[in-house]
Amino acid sequence: MVHENLTTLREHLVSRKLALEHAAELIDVIGAISLASRSIAHKVRRARLADVLGEAGGDNVHGEAQQKLDVISNEVLLHCLRRCPSVGICASEEEDEAVPVRPLSDGGRFCVVYDPLDGSSNIDVAVSVGTIFSVLPNDDESVLQRGERQLAAGYVVYGSSVLMVLTLGEGVDLFVLDPDLGDFVLVQQGLQLPASRKIYSLNEAYRDDFPGGYQRYLDDAHAGGYSSRYIGSMVGDVHRTLLKGGVFLYPPTTQAPSGKLRLLYEGNPMAMLVEQAGGTATTGSGRIVEVEPAELHQRTPVILGSREEVARVLGHLQE
Ligand code: AHG
Ligand code: MN
Ligand code: MN
Repeated sequence: MVHENLTTLREHLVSRKLALEHAAELIDVIGAISLASRSIAHKVRRARLADVLGEAGGDNVHGEAQQKLDVISNEVLLHCLRRCPSVGICASEEEDEAVPVRPLSDGGRFCVVYDPLDGSSNIDVAVSVGTIFSVLPNDDESVLQRGERQLAAGYVVYGSSVLMVLTLGEGVDLFVLDPDLGDFVLVQQGLQLPASRKIYSLNEAYRDDFPGGYQRYLDDAHAGGYSSRYIGSMVGDVHRTLLKGGVFLYPPTTQAPSGKLRLLYEGNPMAMLVEQAGGTATTGSGRIVEVEPAELHQRTPVILGSREEVARVLGHLQE
């Protein structure tokens, strides 16, 4: 059909007549993220040609060596979001502190919290990386809010194609960047996770450091004919889980008692997406989106995916 895949991201969001206060301004924020991600996609695709692979030479607040593209992606997002009239605060994995943009009294009604480039250790080997984002209300001028207050959440995968997966609290939609149009177009609405799928996804190198329940789960999965799939980029592993089912885990270890993934810009946005798609997203002792954040970069254990697969993990944790 000549009009197939011709609904752009903005047209789709406008047509949804979202039952959200300030929906038009929220759509503008998503538009700013869309522009930034299209620029980042271009830079990721040309990384080797433009010699922006490798380390930037500095460490971020987590003491992790920043990749050049971490820094570039963060700057692109900050630039696009600062220009958006309804953004009040930006917070990034690559910024020590939240970045005030404009007060609520001046129209800054949204906070945008993001991981500008997730999986950046995979950049140099051309494995999928992405941007993860979370939009919160700026009611009290702070980003330290529970994930259940998110107004929107999503990610962009820079892979074999550039995809945006997005929820505004009314289901999960999938968009693909059409390079000829230079815009994201809608390809699937209302994504729903399969209830079960024999795939588990975690870094088994840390098995001996996991609490016993996780080790018992792994023994059960090995005996149960499960497949193991682990990309090492959260966006890649979560995207596969959303589309095919299974369970993605980043458990606590003796080295990292709260796990490695950050609550505000990895755990919460992915948890909103997975729950909106009919799955489960838990810390192992409660919903991720119910955790009360104490600081910007705090970490959380993550178990998310098909509800029957997550239930199987929780069964072993509660033994
Ligand atoms: P980031 O590149 O934003 O720091 O995130 C990397 C994270 C996440 O993408 C992935 O799930 C996890 O690191 C992989 O960690 P391990 O290498 O310890 O498995
Ligand atoms: Mn990340
Ligand atoms: Mn990152």
